[in-house]
Amino acid sequence: MSKVIGVLTAGGDCPGLNAVIRAVVTRATERHGAEVVGILNGWEGLMHGRTRSLDRDAVRGILARGGTILGTSRMDPYVHGDGYESVRKTLERNGIDSLVVVGGDGTLLSALKLSQEGLKVVGVPKTIDNDIAATDWTFGFDTALEIATEAIDRITTTAESHNRIMLVEVMGRTKGWIATYAGIAGGADAVLIPEIPYDLTEVADVIRSRHRRGHSYSVVVVAEGIEPPPDVARPQTEVDAFGFERLGGVAYQIAPVLEERTGFETRVTVLGHLQRGGTPTAFDRVLGTRLGVGAADLAVSGAAGVMVAVRGSDIVPVPLEEACADIRGVDEATYDVAQTFFG
Ligand code: F6P
Repeated sequence: MSKVIGVLTAGGDCPGLNAVIRAVVTRATERHGAEVVGILNGWEGLMHGRTRSLDRDAVRGILARGGTILGTSRMDPYVHGDGYESVRKTLERNGIDSLVVVGGDGTLLSALKLSQEGLKVVGVPKTIDNDIAATDWTFGFDTALEIATEAIDRITTTAESHNRIMLVEVMGRTKGWIATYAGIAGGADAVLIPEIPYDLTEVADVIRSRHRRGHSYSVVVVAEGIEPPPDVARPQTEVDAFGFERLGGVAYQIAPVLEERTGFETRVTVLGHLQRGGTPTAFDRVLGTRLGVGAADLAVSGAAGVMVAVRGSDIVPVPLEEACADIRGVDEATYDVAQTFFG
């Protein structure tokens, strides 16, 4: 009897998800003769029995498409249901032997709990934030980085025409990977990230001295997860099903302080969900495909409690526990590269 592999995408969407789905389905069905059941809307579909069967034809033409053909949600079987019990019926009804779960840290943690209760799970790390432990890269990051870099390039040319400070706020939740890499790629004059405490007086000094040397504008990249300036309260925000705070807009709290300390007009651009939309870069299509192929091979072989990870240039299985143990932040050496070009 052929194996049945379930596949779901959960949490925020991310460019490259369709590349993973296409790879899981094609590898499992064409190479291994397995069947694949797509679960709709992430954990929500698994809890409520919403599925569709997937074969090679069902995933043709999706490689370059943003989003996920399966849909996604921020629901969690341990928050909105009673864990394994709430998904058991769907698994049994579809005869699912093994589940490929494509998600970020919150999703992978739920996958780990289900695997500890006996479900065979293979995780695939997904997030534009690039912050999942145990893998060197996550797909989606490269696309977000391209979009953020293009935005910085465009903001730089309008900034050049004015004596202005331009703040560009990027996503990344509690980690500053997009900010640091986009700052390096876009030649930012300062980059503020959650991992490194910042001092707006120092930032203002750097900017003033830059403008004194004849440069009539500055571009500052702000990671959405930094603390607001001292004495400024973080706005009240909602939390999602995984307990993550909804971020966005801290640059609006930084702007008046920098304007006041430098005397230069300051403008803010918050890139927001633009960074997650649209077609994935070639790098993310290839990475998503490689991870999907690796996940299908592992799922069909009966592997459990693992995640496919990038280590150097290889795709390797790592324990899900390792992936869920931590969130990976920007290292000092990488930030130091960005800092070399400040001012
Ligand atoms: O984790 C990915 C991410 O895009 C973060 O960078 C961002 O803070 C968050 O998701 C936004 O989530 P939502 O789509 O729920 O607004």
